[in-house]
Amino acid sequence: MAAQPSLTVVDSDAAGVDRAFRADVLAGLAQRQKAVPARWFYDDRGSSLFEEITRLPEYYPTRAETEILAQWCPEIARRVGVGRAVIEFGAGSAAKTPLVLGCIEPAFYVPIDISGDFLRASVEPLAARFPALPIVPVEADFTKPVPLPEAIGGLPKLGFFPGSTIGNLVPPSAVDLLRAMRATLGDDATLLIGMDLIKDPAVLLAAYDDSAGVTAAFNLNLVARINRELEGTIPLDALRHVVRWNDPLARIEMHLEAQRAIEFTVSDKRLAMAAGETIHTENSHKYDSRSAAMLLLAGGWTPHEHFFDHGRRFMVILAAASEARMAP
Ligand code: AVJ
Repeated sequence: MAAQPSLTVVDSDAAGVDRAFRADVLAGLAQRQKAVPARWFYDDRGSSLFEEITRLPEYYPTRAETEILAQWCPEIARRVGVGRAVIEFGAGSAAKTPLVLGCIEPAFYVPIDISGDFLRASVEPLAARFPALPIVPVEADFTKPVPLPEAIGGLPKLGFFPGSTIGNLVPPSAVDLLRAMRATLGDDATLLIGMDLIKDPAVLLAAYDDSAGVTAAFNLNLVARINRELEGTIPLDALRHVVRWNDPLARIEMHLEAQRAIEFTVSDKRLAMAAGETIHTENSHKYDSRSAAMLLLAGGWTPHEHFFDHGRRFMVILAAASEARMAP
């Protein structure tokens, strides 16, 4: 699977990435609850650790979503119809994108990603596999409306946003993103979006705290990256990977918890953590059909169909762009 889509603007030059990373880290570590945005997990090491996560026995979402796309392909194709332009938000995933492209006979494929490198890497194998399909990658920040290539102007669009990446976002940001996608895709659009289901917290906790320690390494790599790229002195051995199920907010949280009082610097800024204090590094929101409907409706999308895997662990929702019209 290709690396995760970036959800915010990143300058393409190395110095630009540094600036945005430094600004986010310094602002986040200055908060009462220390926090760093989850998108900064995905440097080269973080991206390969995430790939390893998707193959862990405890981490079911990737397998469950792939099962859904394979199993429900005929139904999805019937609903969506042939000749659509497929717009994928994030560079195509090697496992999932071919399932959709092979199934619905699209007229065009447009992956959108902020990273030109990820885009190019994901397009090559797809072009080889679908030689007759016109592919036009667009390097852009999809949290804002993205102008699409002229050539697909008249075609109805299918947005594809797999992986439950939407779960990383708190609801106000998730709604902003859905509205931007609605603006990008236009009035006749359909959206195919993956969301992880609310389930037994023990299953969720195991998926984010695997016995091989890969997710712990993924979480701690963020601090290694801060130390390396921002001249940080955070003692890695003092931090422990902690996973919590936040029930009222229906989300998994990942934290890094200080095992003792520590003092350190990041880009010359002096910081400290008390024993037991945490840096909040990720939210992964879980939904059911009703809460997903509220989110989608708030973002301008009307859910039409839900597809589940056999174990009912994950869902893929087919939604249509809501009509703007008079309502009571
Ligand atoms: C890529 C955001 C879908 O939340 O499940 C996996 C990231 N973090 N294990 C998720 C992740 C820890 C993943 N998403």
